[in-house]
Amino acid sequence: MTVLTDPLSIGGCEVPNRLYRAPLLECAGNGPDAVDTLIDELEPAAAAGTGLIFQGASIVTPEGGCAAPNMTRVHDPEFVADLSRLTDAVHDHGSRIFLQLAHGGLRSLDLWHAQHRRRSDAVGQKAVSKPPWHLRLADRLGFVDLQPEVLSTAEVYDLAAAFGRAAGYAVDAGYDGIHLSAANMSLIQQFLSPYYNRRDDEFADGVQFLLAIRDAIRDHAGDVPLVTKVPAETAAPPFVRRHLTRGDAVDIASRLAAAGFDALVPVEVSVYWDMSVVRGEYPARAWAASDLQADYAAAFGGRLRARAVRAANRVEEYWYPTEPGWNADLCRAVRAAVDVPVLCEGGLRERDHCEGLLGDDGSPACDMVGMGRPFYAEPRLPARLLDGGGRVLCESCNNCTVPQVAGEPGRCRTPDIVRERARLERDGAYDGEE
Ligand SMILES: Cc1cc2nc3c(=O)[nH]c(=O)nc-3n(C[C@H](O)[C@H](O)[C@H](O)COP(=O)(O)O)c2cc1C
Repeated sequence: MTVLTDPLSIGGCEVPNRLYRAPLLECAGNGPDAVDTLIDELEPAAAAGTGLIFQGASIVTPEGGCAAPNMTRVHDPEFVADLSRLTDAVHDHGSRIFLQLAHGGLRSLDLWHAQHRRRSDAVGQKAVSKPPWHLRLADRLGFVDLQPEVLSTAEVYDLAAAFGRAAGYAVDAGYDGIHLSAANMSLIQQFLSPYYNRRDDEFADGVQFLLAIRDAIRDHAGDVPLVTKVPAETAAPPFVRRHLTRGDAVDIASRLAAAGFDALVPVEVSVYWDMSVVRGEYPARAWAASDLQADYAAAFGGRLRARAVRAANRVEEYWYPTEPGWNADLCRAVRAAVDVPVLCEGGLRERDHCEGLLGDDGSPACDMVGMGRPFYAEPRLPARLLDGGGRVLCESCNNCTVPQVAGEPGRCRTPDIVRERARLERDGAYDGEE
């Protein structure tokens, strides 16, 4: 029988409990305040007792590949070295921190962000193959600006090497492990997905890209613990015929575990970057925010286009119903097939539910449980949850998500919840783990 407060080893890294902060964009950028912003964002989670913090997607190349404004790049050893202030701060509280490495490929600002595209530093998008016709149609209709640069075999190895170098810098800066962004339409998912991958070289088998990244990480960062998301594209829209099934995801997970990956995070997503990742309510308040209207229009290329995205969000609320722990069945299937820890996230909000998934009844679905949006609502939530608290405040209203397209930092924007957090703070509910 496993409970939330039990420790766990991931590839030799001793994690003090079974609760992790899922990777969330911190939107800290690379400016002079970037490291302090990251410390402000992540240290409270460590101070409150989070066992493991996954820092959000960080881009391994000096240009291109950012999915959202203000993402942090980690190609520069000098910048990454300064992140030791962050890892020290986290370690001082006894928590562990892994850096998530990423490249967006087609899913980049250069594809969809109108204002960014107009800037002179906009570049084309790294592509696994010629993009699917749905995206080419969206390009012709003017919704996106597709400028695919299909990677040669040598360029794929170069990109894998960029992941390896960034991992090396991260380990030097004190990170305890590396997480790979392989879902949410990232470049790694694009390699794994039959929707995107029509290659005829060794990377026609998308797992080979993950193995090339693993090799590069082993070259630059030794045997640092290595974790990756594993996507099943079961939430792809019906018009997408070629996508990763649950069976494919279990097969990929088995191969990665056999290849030395130290933990896996199975997730059910779409082939696109949409609300399948963050199932919940239509973000009414975020879309209505008067101070953000101009920014939305600038990001999406006009008010009409912004309204079209808004309408799509409404449809997605019904298409992806809020289902606490929506990845749990996939995690259970993966866990039956691998002998490394399986991490479950997605809509988890209650301690009892988390402990049920960890197997307090003897049939675990996973070895660790993670939360994302709840950390925006309550940066110090583990102090409450690990201390027996029943439920976190986040209600998956998603008002934290949309403003990020306008470069806004991730934070809870729902007044009732912000007020309730302030009340809990006043009552000392988060003081437990200090
Ligand atoms: C604003 C936002 C940013 C996210 N950024 C990342 C990311 O950088 N990398 C990643 O793998 N997942 C990212 N996710 C997905 C989360 O890790 C998590 O899977 C998702 O939020 C579901 O968990 P939750 O219901 O506890 O929020 C993001 C989610 C949100 C809401």
